[in-house]
Amino acid sequence: MTAREEALNLRLSGPTPLSPAVRMASATQVIGHRSEPFREMLERVIDWLQPVFGTKSHVLPFTASGTGGLEAAIVNSVCPGDRVLALSSGYFGSRFADIASTHGARVDLLETPWGSPVDIDLLVRQLRRRRYTAITLTDCETSTGVKNDLVSIGPSIREQSDALLLVDVVGSLATAPLKMDDLSIDVAIGVTQKGLMSPPGLTLLAVSDRAITRAATLATRSYYFDFNRMLGEVRHRSTSFTPAVTVVAALEKALESIHEGGLMDWYQRHATNAATCHRAAEEHKLGIAAVAGYRAPSITALVLPDGIKSSTVREHALKQSGVLCSGGRGPWKETVVRIAHLGHTSQPLIRHAVDAVAEAVAAAAA
Ligand SMILES: Cc1ncc(COP(=O)(O)O)c(C=O)c1O
Repeated sequence: MTAREEALNLRLSGPTPLSPAVRMASATQVIGHRSEPFREMLERVIDWLQPVFGTKSHVLPFTASGTGGLEAAIVNSVCPGDRVLALSSGYFGSRFADIASTHGARVDLLETPWGSPVDIDLLVRQLRRRRYTAITLTDCETSTGVKNDLVSIGPSIREQSDALLLVDVVGSLATAPLKMDDLSIDVAIGVTQKGLMSPPGLTLLAVSDRAITRAATLATRSYYFDFNRMLGEVRHRSTSFTPAVTVVAALEKALESIHEGGLMDWYQRHATNAATCHRAAEEHKLGIAAVAGYRAPSITALVLPDGIKSSTVREHALKQSGVLCSGGRGPWKETVVRIAHLGHTSQPLIRHAVDAVAEAVAAAAA
């Protein structure tokens, strides 16, 4: 790695920067995944993850990216022909729906405009109309920077439906409190490389007893992503197949430091960092894509003035200021720049990133 790469202000939606302690942990010698030290490490990781998900239930670590986790949730919950209600207000909500369709589910896509949260009234009306086997939802839609209000959505769903509730928390896990058990969420899908400030490599699924039972009765199954196979191993402090051992070691260190400072402190840091980003954007008169009241603690999508391309702005910010931020996804590819403020970061780094984007916008407009 060059000195310049080392000094980058990495503001991607993921992977996010690693703290020195986490970097050290990922550089340690690899250990056997059936050895006692690994079993102890995995046990600590799962114990620390449970309060992050807000669950006393099972946490299953699959070696895959977040998309693998979404697929695991689908293949363990629905069979071809089952009805799925997919809630989407952005790129990742639609990806979840596509995965369900690919698996042969009959998917009703309930869309709300990008930049807005899920419309609860619309959702309730749809649930009164039709019975579903599963409902998919993206908690933080990282393509727009919207964080949904799970505390309202969870009970509204449960009043109408006993469908399995599958929630993509990839973009929100460890950035805000999550009470999975209280909200009757059946599967929550997270990753290591975002709010948990660890390298990419694992998708972490918190799974209710109901979801485990359902998975055991399905006629079609996945071999690799089988919840029950993984749970059988996790009960013995192991995993079904060779896990990303180094990522588990890094995650252990990251969780240790998050818990040392306290989870509430970690969430507060995210709220403060998000507020710093929003304030800086307002000072520079840059628009924020997510509607007020639903802005994610993890990421902000900044709306560019008409005619200014995201790729031009990002290139300038990288060259002139060493800031690497994300472009838009899908139809927003060239109209927004996304600045992540999650994981191991600080207010000055976030301020620096927004200033760099503003400078790049000014240069492009000149
Ligand atoms: C909300 C959300 N879901 C799913 C994914 C897919 O995760 P991965 O790229 O790890 O497959 C992402 C990635 O950024 C995401 O932000």
